[in-house]
Amino acid sequence: ESIYIGIDLGGTKMLAAIVDERGNMLARTRQETRADRGPVDTIERMKEMAVGLLAETFASPAEYALRGIGIAVAGILDPDRGNVVLATNLKWENVSLARPFVERFACPVQLLNDANAAALGEWMAGAGKNVNDLIFVTVSTGIGGGIVSGGRLVLGASDSAAELGHISIDRHGPLCACGNRGCIELYASGSSIARIAREEMLGGAQGGDELMRLTGGYLDRLTAEHVASAAAAGSAYAINKLAKAGTALGLGIVSMIHLLNPKMIVVGGGVSRSGPPLLEPMREAVRKYGIPGMVNGVTFETAKLGEDAGAVGAALWWRYADLPVSV
Ligand code: BGC
Ligand code: NA
Ligand code: ZN
Repeated sequence: ESIYIGIDLGGTKMLAAIVDERGNMLARTRQETRADRGPVDTIERMKEMAVGLLAETFASPAEYALRGIGIAVAGILDPDRGNVVLATNLKWENVSLARPFVERFACPVQLLNDANAAALGEWMAGAGKNVNDLIFVTVSTGIGGGIVSGGRLVLGASDSAAELGHISIDRHGPLCACGNRGCIELYASGSSIARIAREEMLGGAQGGDELMRLTGGYLDRLTAEHVASAAAAGSAYAINKLAKAGTALGLGIVSMIHLLNPKMIVVGGGVSRSGPPLLEPMREAVRKYGIPGMVNGVTFETAKLGEDAGAVGAALWWRYADLPVSV
């Protein structure tokens, strides 16, 4: 049986999946990234994940033919060299990532931006199956984007297209790790939602009682999940934090819609599970700030592959690469 492996390396978790010829996921596994241990350790654990997954899925190597590996990375890549150029949430700079996998598994290895991979996954096997123009948005440790336009994944000159998180909505805003100011990621990513609430509460902001309770008073432990839980429990402060994040996200999506005229926006990533407190203000901003004739026809969907979108999409790269290109 022909199979593909996809691995999604995110700022918080890494996920590996085996996918068959038809795009069905045969097995999956996940673990914490622990980026603090550095690239050598992380790459080693990624390889072990893939080896472990193969061993638990097949009784012997004779049962499968590994046709390719796709690796989705939360950052900017040099696909020709197989390097990660900059992954701010992993604190990786110029890391050789494809080669260790080629050496270990002796099959073709493709690096993809994580959100681009997830866009491919949702388009080929998820919420966007019947759509030729979609934008995928992930709200996770960072904010990522992916574009399918005219039935092709838009990769750009160096496979780094669709850095939605680094669209600036305030050039006087705070400095981003990418070098720009006021990037959407600074307002709406999981790490930023937590950081903003933490800083405000340390600065004496009122209304954070529910967050205090959820973190046991240890504000350094505060995560976006706490903010989502507090919002679900009715905390007006937390609801307001998510609304601000959603509005920032919506502004970025407006720019993407104006640029690409998509039919569908697919929203994924762990933080998107915060639900209506985040997603309603996001849609509201799109309605309010978008050109009506362009935004009215856009439908919003949640990622059908959930947290597996990046890994499945990366594995599906090799099926996509085989599709005939219509010119
Ligand atoms: C990175 C993107 C990535 C996104 C989501 C951002 O910080 O710049 O490349 O897609 O996080 O992981
Ligand atoms: Na992207
Ligand atoms: Zn930025």
